[in-house]
Amino acid sequence: MNDASLDMLRRLPKAELHLHIEGSLTPQRLFALAAKNGVTLEYESEAALAAAYDFNNLQEFLDLYYLGMNVLQDEEDFYLLTKDYLDVCRTQNIRYVEIGFDPQGHTERGIAFATAYHGIHNALRDAQREWGLESGLMLNILRHLPQDHALATIDEAVAAGAEIIAIGLDSSEAPFPPQLFVDAFAKARALGWHCVAHAGEEGPPAFVWSALKDLQVERVDHGVRSEEDPALLATLAQRQIPLTVCPLSNVRLAVVDHMRDHNILRLLDAGLLVTVNSDDPAYFGGFLEENFVALADNLDMSDAQMVQLVRNGFSASFAAAPDKARWLAQIDSIA
Ligand code: HPA
Ligand code: ZN
Repeated sequence: MNDASLDMLRRLPKAELHLHIEGSLTPQRLFALAAKNGVTLEYESEAALAAAYDFNNLQEFLDLYYLGMNVLQDEEDFYLLTKDYLDVCRTQNIRYVEIGFDPQGHTERGIAFATAYHGIHNALRDAQREWGLESGLMLNILRHLPQDHALATIDEAVAAGAEIIAIGLDSSEAPFPPQLFVDAFAKARALGWHCVAHAGEEGPPAFVWSALKDLQVERVDHGVRSEEDPALLATLAQRQIPLTVCPLSNVRLAVVDHMRDHNILRLLDAGLLVTVNSDDPAYFGGFLEENFVALADNLDMSDAQMVQLVRNGFSASFAAAPDKARWLAQIDSIA
């Protein structure tokens, strides 16, 4: 990316809509929390751990991602995890975030829903007070677990009085299609939560259709494999269903072979509401800015395309309409 484009990117207010907070756990924080909590790691150093972040598919990543979660034990740990990510948001001029967390990844190992929730929520609250970051918290359902667990997790969120903006669906995609979670999404919708699901990352276009029809999602996480089905692409464009695309993630998990092959600009040019996101930045080699830079360096992204992608981040969000309008006006005054 040339200096002028990078300068503009940095001045533009940005939104991030697809971010797993547990995937922002850096090796540094992971080692510090392991020492604090007496958790034994099979890696000798931060560098040795980072060297293991060489994945051939989604499952290889998930295995390490769930391993890393073991160091998160008390509320302060979740607070610091979240604060680390929000500090990056501040340096990268990210003004609005919808972050997801995986409560079942914690309750399954004996950490209470409320412990994870309050740690994350308090960090979001403090960032709002200290520097005006606006945010929403998404509760992601682990699709490799039975729907009953998902329903119980929603009950735990309600019991904890959790402020949740949306339900999401993540973890191993291919064996677990969206339609397995119809009841959980119906329950979330009845609570007034927005509905989002990972689909079309490793799974086929049929999974994106299922997310739309069975789960009634308003937004799709990833969705890049939608390109294989022209009728699906037409529907996504016509209904302006956003896709939260994660370029570095897709390369690291071998969803695409090389950034040069990424379809995000083709999707954009086909009229889809695509956004740029970092997914699990500590594991995939970059935060939001680095994802934009990778697109410019490998796909000849124009400044106009970059600005459109930044605008889409706000347009595709669940933020309040006046807030969206304010950020979009700021973008227009810069771009
Ligand atoms: N896909 C599915 N599940 C996940 C991901 C992802 O990219 N990141 C964390 N959980
Ligand atoms: Zn994801």
